[in-house]
Amino acid sequence: MNTLFDQTTINGMALQNRLARSATWEGMCAVDGKPFPKLISCYRDLARGRVGLIITGYAFVSPEGKQLPGKMGIHTDDFADVMKDMTGAVHEEGGKICIQLVHAGGQTDAGNAGRQPLAPSAVKIDQYPEIPAEMTAEDISRIITAFGAGARRAKDWGFDAIQLHGAHGYLINQFLSPLANHRQDGYGGSIENRCRFLLETYQAVRSAVGPDFPVMVKLNGSDNLEGGLSPEDGLYAAKALDKAGIDCIEVSGGTPVSGDQSPARMKIDSPEKEAYNLSLAGHIRAAVNCSIMVVGGFRSFAVAEKTVQESADYVSMARPFIREPALAKRWQEGDRSVARCISCNSCFKPGLQEGGIYCVVEKKEQEKK
Ligand SMILES: Cc1cc2nc3c(=O)[nH]c(=O)nc-3n(C[C@H](O)[C@H](O)[C@H](O)COP(=O)(O)O)c2cc1C
Repeated sequence: MNTLFDQTTINGMALQNRLARSATWEGMCAVDGKPFPKLISCYRDLARGRVGLIITGYAFVSPEGKQLPGKMGIHTDDFADVMKDMTGAVHEEGGKICIQLVHAGGQTDAGNAGRQPLAPSAVKIDQYPEIPAEMTAEDISRIITAFGAGARRAKDWGFDAIQLHGAHGYLINQFLSPLANHRQDGYGGSIENRCRFLLETYQAVRSAVGPDFPVMVKLNGSDNLEGGLSPEDGLYAAKALDKAGIDCIEVSGGTPVSGDQSPARMKIDSPEKEAYNLSLAGHIRAAVNCSIMVVGGFRSFAVAEKTVQESADYVSMARPFIREPALAKRWQEGDRSVARCISCNSCFKPGLQEGGIYCVVEKKEQEKK
């Protein structure tokens, strides 16, 4: 029977356990996307804390795909030295690091994107101020090429894997969703067409890194939105990726406008509220051959362990590792009490100005002492 501390491999990448740090924007990069030394320390701490795989915060593949200040960029060769220091720091601690590649599409604003945001269709995305410009065929091809170039850089710089951000309402998810994608060409309409951008992006990345390098995707099993990507569409996309050769699908759900069904749900204070994407992941796992990782509300050892025994190959967490970078080590060494994260989402608030994210609750508790 699987356990959380099994050693496994994903397309040749050896992992020390089945726990991953899910991608978490850290706000620890300069405005141009160049990582600050603090981001390297953040990953070093996670590696010391023995999480099996660190998935970086989302990194933009081209400048107009940037969403927030402090976000990492993988759009230029200029960051080679600092990126090599980053991967080297993780490897020195025995860890593995996967970079998450993203284009924000319409989920950004002109201030961050440096131009009118681009999206599959000129449809305003809730919570964002501008109507994006509909991507031309040229934009599509340029951005797919940028994903491939980002993947090539990441491999050259020592990252152990690539993850495409296909979830949470960003560009790939916008193509998948009938709400955001009203295109009349080969990239819109049927689910087969709505998957085309995702699959072409995957192929560009695969061509850049070759067959023997792990390529993963974070995919919404459902957008949890009326008219958005449905569970049936999510399953179709997962099966198409599996057929195309993806190595691992991390299953998530929701977008920032999915209300109480958004990706980072609040008040996870009992085992019943944990693992809220498990049924979507189970649905997908039954239909594919690649590895399945599941994210969303994991807080207790028992729920995580049961998940790898019964429902998924890997469990990933984001907020718990902000409060406790050494959570994996703590559980491995026998203190299996529940993660101290209270899912209050205050960690979303500190930005670049404050030096990046941190657990606001933990900081207050430390200050009281
Ligand atoms: C501060 C913060 C930043 C996040 N940034 C990203 C990101 O860059 N990419 C991503 O795929 N998900 C991001 N997420 C979502 C998480 O990866 C995860 O899917 C979600 O928080 C649910 O998992 P959890 O309950 O373990 O936190 C972020 C979440 C938080 C709290």
